[in-house]
Amino acid sequence: MSAVFNFTFVPWFRSVAPYIHKFRHQTFVIGLTGEAIAAGKLQSIVQDLALIQAMGVKIVLVHGFRPQVNEQLRAKGHEAKYSHGMRITDSVALDCAQEAAGQLRYEIEAAFSQGLPNTPMAGATVRVLSGNFITARPVGIVDGVDFQHSGVVRKVDVAGITRTLDMGALVLLSPFGFSPTGEAFNLAMEEVATSVALALQADKLIFITEIPGIRVHPEEPESEDNPIDTELPLADAEALLARLPPPQQPTDIGFYLQHCIKACKGGVARSHIIPFAVDGSLLLEIYVHDGIGTMVVDEKLEALREATPDDVGGILQLIEPFEKDGTLVKRSRTEIERDIDHYTIIEHDGVIFGCAALYPYPEAKTGEMAALTVSPQSQSQGDGEKLLKRIEQRARAMGLQSIFVLTTRTMHWFLKRGFQPVDPDWLPEARKRKYNWDRRSQVLVKKL
Ligand SMILES: CC(C)(COP(=O)(O)OP(=O)(O)OC[C@H]1O[C@@H](n2cnc3c(N)ncnc32)[C@H](O)[C@@H]1OP(=O)(O)O)[C@@H](O)C(=O)NCCC(=O)NCCS
Repeated sequence: MSAVFNFTFVPWFRSVAPYIHKFRHQTFVIGLTGEAIAAGKLQSIVQDLALIQAMGVKIVLVHGFRPQVNEQLRAKGHEAKYSHGMRITDSVALDCAQEAAGQLRYEIEAAFSQGLPNTPMAGATVRVLSGNFITARPVGIVDGVDFQHSGVVRKVDVAGITRTLDMGALVLLSPFGFSPTGEAFNLAMEEVATSVALALQADKLIFITEIPGIRVHPEEPESEDNPIDTELPLADAEALLARLPPPQQPTDIGFYLQHCIKACKGGVARSHIIPFAVDGSLLLEIYVHDGIGTMVVDEKLEALREATPDDVGGILQLIEPFEKDGTLVKRSRTEIERDIDHYTIIEHDGVIFGCAALYPYPEAKTGEMAALTVSPQSQSQGDGEKLLKRIEQRARAMGLQSIFVLTTRTMHWFLKRGFQPVDPDWLPEARKRKYNWDRRSQVLVKKL
């Protein structure tokens, strides 16, 4: 095996570790569109789900069947009928839906049963359990339109699903619900997934869809300057939905978004829209910092806060590469533990991405900003600046009139942000005694 492979694989695998630890024992509800299955993506998505489950995530998979039902209808010489963005399920459509659901369930169960050696499914033993977990009621007649056998979710059997998940099984749901009179109702996959996520208070709701996510300028066409917005705060998502026309079909911007918003408002902290067109999109969304689709979040997940003793390990991991290449001076674990109150960190999804410390010299009315670091994968997004601002706030709150830094390589970053070079003699006496003349760091000061 080549040394280059070791060099890339090991740090890459380690970078995923925080997410594996964080998501273990969490519950994800996945809404898999029928379009994804029609596009031939089932095998690869199932492989990724099996891997995610092996890493300790509890999974409820809800499949859709829009194109499959339409195909069956076409074969019977019938046309699909929609109104208000919902299918009108007459008795022929109900037959078609039952046939499509049966067929898809077999296909999904078969895909999860694979285990050939040398494939991603080797050794995966995923138990798939389905059941009558959803109680439904008819949509009824809306604005004079009779939706017949189309239903909406009335109740989710939370105890039943939880018990099945706790047994280690993956719960597979078709978009069907049953009424206490024994009638079957055709439901929308998106509604089932959202209702289940809400009822279980799942950690994530993820739709694997035909759209890539929501763009930064949602109503403008795709371009280099208009990428996918990877993190959409709930308030912005609601404002966007309010100004869009009511979504009618899955490719409309608001179609999945309306469900993400509903889930988010009901306590599901993160809802995602990701594309099935990108191979591995589930893994990219869950185990990579920025993800690939759009995540609707209850608040900005990037939390800037003062550090606690629990953060010592994360800080060490963050600054270590910069100590090794000489950008930062070496600090021991004991030193960081002792000084943890001086640190401010930026955390995202439980992982520390940035830190800085403030060492006050009250007698000289100044303080040193030290160990300013932003992880290479999230640099140039303004996190360095946010940390600097917070350190300035902390310094002001302590009554300090300036902050200073000692740097060998990052001088220009500080100069651009209002720091001025001074002679090392300027340093407070206590700091001057510790100044390493061999390192010949530049001293820069910013007046507050
Ligand atoms: C310096 C550092 C904290 C900035 O963090 P950041 O989150 O990328 O900062 P911001 O997003 O606020 O600013 C990014 C800008 O700074 C620039 N920048 C980054 N490192 C720089 C450096 N060493 N010198 C000059 N400019 C630098 C980037 O090019 C970017 O410019 P742009 O916006 O014009 O593209 C980060 O690069 C880092 O951790 N570096 C390694 C550790 C280090 O040098 N710490 C300082 C020790 S004294």
